[in-house]
Amino acid sequence: MTTDTELRVSKIENGTVIDHVRAGEALRVLKILGIDGSEGESISVGMNVPSERLGHKDVVKVEGMELSQDEVDVLSLIAPDASINIIREYDVVEKSRVERPDAVTGVLTCPNTNCITNAGEPIETHFEIMDEGVQCRYCGTIIREDITDHIEA
Ligand code: CTP
Ligand code: ZN
Repeated sequence: MTTDTELRVSKIENGTVIDHVRAGEALRVLKILGIDGSEGESISVGMNVPSERLGHKDVVKVEGMELSQDEVDVLSLIAPDASINIIREYDVVEKSRVERPDAVTGVLTCPNTNCITNAGEPIETHFEIMDEGVQCRYCGTIIREDITDHIEA
């Protein structure tokens, strides 16, 4: 339980708290989820907040939004230690750890311009998640770095 003396960012009434984000990753989390405040949602970001588990952590709080499974899948690619707290009327009603999926469908674009998924065919992209990166099922291309740059718009 967070005590009042530890609280850096105020509690939210309804929405999602993405907690235990690795220090320095909060803005990437917002980017990856496409959250920029343009919908009028209130967003609080805590950076380098002291954490027992991680030493320091980032925390992202978004009012009025609950993450979908697709969004959690994307998040798992860059914030594998994060926990997702769904808040309703100030209470944590659901708490889950992000889990790395085996694969993501329709989430990333393939960087290989010759890949069938870039040929204008009605084929959804599909990447297997591996330790060294993510691999396109159709052409075998492996994305090893900057996975965020390949997220479908
Ligand atoms: N939180 C919030 N608004 C609320 C309730 C909780 O912003 N109305 C935030 C807390 O600040 C914390 C996270 O949601 O960052 C999880 O809340 P809670 O489970 O109460 O905290 P802990 O027990 O410290 O969580 P954990 O065990 O996951 O570390
Ligand atoms: Zn491909």
